[in-house]
Amino acid sequence: MVSTKYLLVAGARPNFMKIAPIYRAFSTRQTGIWSPNVIIVHTGQHYDPDMSDNFFRDLSIPQPDINLNVGSGSQAEQTARIMMAFEPACREYCPDWVVVVGDTNSTLACALTARKLGIRVAHVEAGLRSRDMSMPEEINRICTDSISDLFFTTEASAQENLRKEGHGGEKIHFVGNTMIDSLQEHISRSRQLPLPEGLVTGQYAVLTMHRPANVDSSEQLAAILGAVNVIADRLPVVFPVHPRTALKLHEIELHPRVLTLKPMSYLPFLGLIARSRMVLTDSGGIQEETTVLGVPCLTMRPNTERPITCEIGSNVLVGTDPRRIVQEARSILDGNNRHSEIPEKWDGHAAERIVDVLLEQQGPDSRVARV
Ligand code: UD1
Repeated sequence: MVSTKYLLVAGARPNFMKIAPIYRAFSTRQTGIWSPNVIIVHTGQHYDPDMSDNFFRDLSIPQPDINLNVGSGSQAEQTARIMMAFEPACREYCPDWVVVVGDTNSTLACALTARKLGIRVAHVEAGLRSRDMSMPEEINRICTDSISDLFFTTEASAQENLRKEGHGGEKIHFVGNTMIDSLQEHISRSRQLPLPEGLVTGQYAVLTMHRPANVDSSEQLAAILGAVNVIADRLPVVFPVHPRTALKLHEIELHPRVLTLKPMSYLPFLGLIARSRMVLTDSGGIQEETTVLGVPCLTMRPNTERPITCEIGSNVLVGTDPRRIVQEARSILDGNNRHSEIPEKWDGHAAERIVDVLLEQQGPDSRVARV
């Protein structure tokens, strides 16, 4: 039996729900003579139990085989520390493939390290583009795609972006969305969990904010929360607070019906948004989750790398002008809901398609020079 070795990388909160179904699909696939050996690598970019360990528990994935424990730092420090810690791991484990997901610093740092060692890189959620180079994630997406060997995409815009950037058609695979695989698997259980005290299904909004552009300046954060305070006059707003946002939040007065909470783990949070009246967010993944759940989503950013959620889903880009945020929220509360459709292949089977493609690459001819 020959074993093809994959290092499956995660590091920050939105990575965990994307690797979980891939890990599971690997363990259930028949592989004949070639047997996959999948090793989970956690970079430690997120390390609080609320941002990391609880997700492994909720998603029923085993503890990481390798934890690089890099922690926080500036963009450069964090990226460099991940690369320095990941390189010896690659040398020790000699993988055939490094599989990275999404657009975090962990994604780019591990892709770059692997590629320079001659290890093949597969990028899950490739090709998304916001065209906003002030977002660290956009730089991570472009750089990761520029050095990846295989691209797994979630929507048609990503295919087009990759082709325009000169990537060959045979390397691009439209597979769907592994984050939605996790949603489909866990949504029934999530809906059964109790809501925070005092909340009634369909009669509250959920707020999440963590983008540096929105939360690192007290003025910007106060302007957006001013709009949230107005919305809270009409319905309670639940606000699980990201550690980055918490740093400035104490300076700002919140409406008594804005309920702040610690970051929530996967299942309770999914249950919370699924039963909400609307979501206000600057997250990427939540735009996709609300589209599948049919929950109205107001995205407080000037652009999105996930245009399908606006074209056919429940997402509306409202930017960060407080008046526009209030106006769109009122419109939803007055009953003007958008019809939301589920994008093609967001059917809970993306990870299986990814693993099928990866297993097709197996064999002696696909091997690259070992490090
Ligand atoms: C990162 C990702 C972003 C993703 C987000 C989800 C990048 C460039 N950004 O942003 O794409 O949407 O995760 O949360 O990779 N902190 C803690 N505990 C933790 C982790 C972080 O207290 O477990 C604090 C630290 O003070 C840290 C700050 O949060 O400096 C920001 O964390 P970091 O991982 O640098 O970026 P995020 O804003 O979380």
